[in-house]
Amino acid sequence: MQVLDSIQTLREALGRARRPLGLVPTMGYLHEGHLSLVRRARAESATAAVSIFVNPTQFGPQEDLTTYPRDLSRDLALLEKEGVDIVFAPSLEEIYPRGFDTWVHVDLLARRLEGEARPGHFRGVCTVVLKLFYLFRPERAYFGQKDAQQALVVQRMARDLNTGTEVVVCPTLREPDGLAMSSRNVYLDHHQRRAATVLYRSLCLAQEMLRRGERDADKIRTAMMALLQSEPLVSKVEYVSIADKETLKELEHIGGPALVSLAVRIGRTRLIDNVTLTP
Ligand code: PAJ
Repeated sequence: MQVLDSIQTLREALGRARRPLGLVPTMGYLHEGHLSLVRRARAESATAAVSIFVNPTQFGPQEDLTTYPRDLSRDLALLEKEGVDIVFAPSLEEIYPRGFDTWVHVDLLARRLEGEARPGHFRGVCTVVLKLFYLFRPERAYFGQKDAQQALVVQRMARDLNTGTEVVVCPTLREPDGLAMSSRNVYLDHHQRRAATVLYRSLCLAQEMLRRGERDADKIRTAMMALLQSEPLVSKVEYVSIADKETLKELEHIGGPALVSLAVRIGRTRLIDNVTLTP
């Protein structure tokens, strides 16, 4: 496994790399969810590459950039075991040299949900992901359904800007009690960790209501909200959304594939989750 921290050495390694190349962009502190993407990339590519970079431009000023968990040596040991060929773990200056002033802006799709709750978030995500796509020129890049809107926005950017990279979206990995795996779960104390199952329980409630024939999106949103607010350790529900799976426009009536998603704070930790449902 080659571990590279400069663009120069990455270019040299990529010149020798066999194709097709599959890239998994991450911010590190890897868990099974990340590794499921890595395994898929490994299985489908001659060269499996992973990037590890806590991207400051996708964090808001009040967000958790400084406390975001990091453990590069543990990450590298995990990736070595998975048979990864190339790990790119650049410094801040390597990605954002002094005077950096160019941004990628996906418009309508990036304004909804996470875009509304976290202004500038997708500008940071798209800018760093496009840089990675230009550097690696991956045939495929792997993203998790856990960040459903991110996957959609990156897919749109990749198509609109003709990057030539196929964006592959992989299923969400969950803990046995349903909590979606996330690097941010380490912020939760024992009580908060138990309370955090309310996200998945409310997604299951939506699924169950739909299965019983409910098609009124507002009725489902209201029931989900009530369940979330019944959990005392939930400090804030940022949104509960039932939206068209492709456009992310909020639905009144559920007639086709819908993305049910939510963002909830437990203490100061912000958690997101989603499921796609088809009536
Ligand atoms: P990060 O949060 O590290 O996630 C890296 C990738 O792992 C993302 O595509 C994310 O959707 C996926 N992932 C996270 N948890 C998952 C889970 N439980 N199951 C399946 N996949 C999961 O997302 C980012 O980093 C950054 O925004 C990035 C794309 C790297 C740009 O900076």
